[in-house]
Amino acid sequence: MVGTGRARAEAHGRVTILGEHTDYNEGRSLGIATEQCTVVTYEPGRPDTVEVDSSACGKATSSISHPEGPAFIVLAAALARVAGINDARITVEGDLPLGAGLSSSASYAVAVALAFGIEGTPLDVARACQAAERTAGTDVGLLDQLVILAARDGCVVDLDFAGLTIRSLALNHAIGLSVVETGERRLVADSAYATRRAECAAAAEQLGRALGRVHIEDLELLDDPVLLRRARHVVSECERVDGARRALRDGDLESLGHLLDEGHASLRDDFESSTPAVEAVRDELSSQQGVSGVRLTGAGFGGCLLVAHDPAVAVSVPGRWCSRLTGSRGAWVSSTR
Ligand code: GLA
Repeated sequence: MVGTGRARAEAHGRVTILGEHTDYNEGRSLGIATEQCTVVTYEPGRPDTVEVDSSACGKATSSISHPEGPAFIVLAAALARVAGINDARITVEGDLPLGAGLSSSASYAVAVALAFGIEGTPLDVARACQAAERTAGTDVGLLDQLVILAARDGCVVDLDFAGLTIRSLALNHAIGLSVVETGERRLVADSAYATRRAECAAAAEQLGRALGRVHIEDLELLDDPVLLRRARHVVSECERVDGARRALRDGDLESLGHLLDEGHASLRDDFESSTPAVEAVRDELSSQQGVSGVRLTGAGFGGCLLVAHDPAVAVSVPGRWCSRLTGSRGAWVSSTR
């Protein structure tokens, strides 16, 4: 893993179709890349220094060997160390909304990693980005980075976190997908994400197995009602991923919509990661002509909703950012000089 000198890389965002909070539980997920992306350009700078100039987050400078400062600079310094880079000046631009549940941090990490010349399988690069996010203070799973790194044009990424396998599934033309912002933004680091992870870990410890490998009947062994609800979300969500994979293959919009609605109810009632603002925008979308199902996507506690709909209709909510999902290629180095 050696830096290339100068480069420009692009990385898109991630929308989870189904399989939320399953990655850190050895479960399954289906994801797709957004049309919007983060663009990072890298060139050499001053010794033992990383300088970031971000159109969204501002400017920051840090030592690479002893990083300090906001998360985005600490993350860049961590990736510079992995790449064997001792001096970096990077600019960050793009049109991916930040803190909207579309993995803007993973998109930034992947773009920086690729611009720095970090190479390997999608899993290798994803792990380097995950480790850098941890160094910068957020203990995320591998869902976002893997979707971004493995996404191909017109495709959905099908992930199994037990065996860490990655497959591609063509997006059927009978299915329309859009993502709509709720207007409530938050960063994963500032949400109850870490609490949910700890609750899932406690349930798994009691059951003696990762929740992604547990059957619904095994949950009888959990007597704490909160842990039971968190575990029931993860176990039922993995089953919904299997159903959604079939619906996507068959172009069965009605079944997919039904699964999205069930997934949302599970996030709201069992995982408790919805909010009143999310529910209000969801109610508005659910009643629209041609809409088959709507669910919260991403870490939750605000962010975006995924809508499955008749591909002939355009969904929108006045005053809310909205984008059609056609399955973009996820990440690449666009130039090295
Ligand atoms: C965030 C994390 C991911 C995943 C999702 C929830 O986006 O970065 O690893 O856990 O939340 O599915």
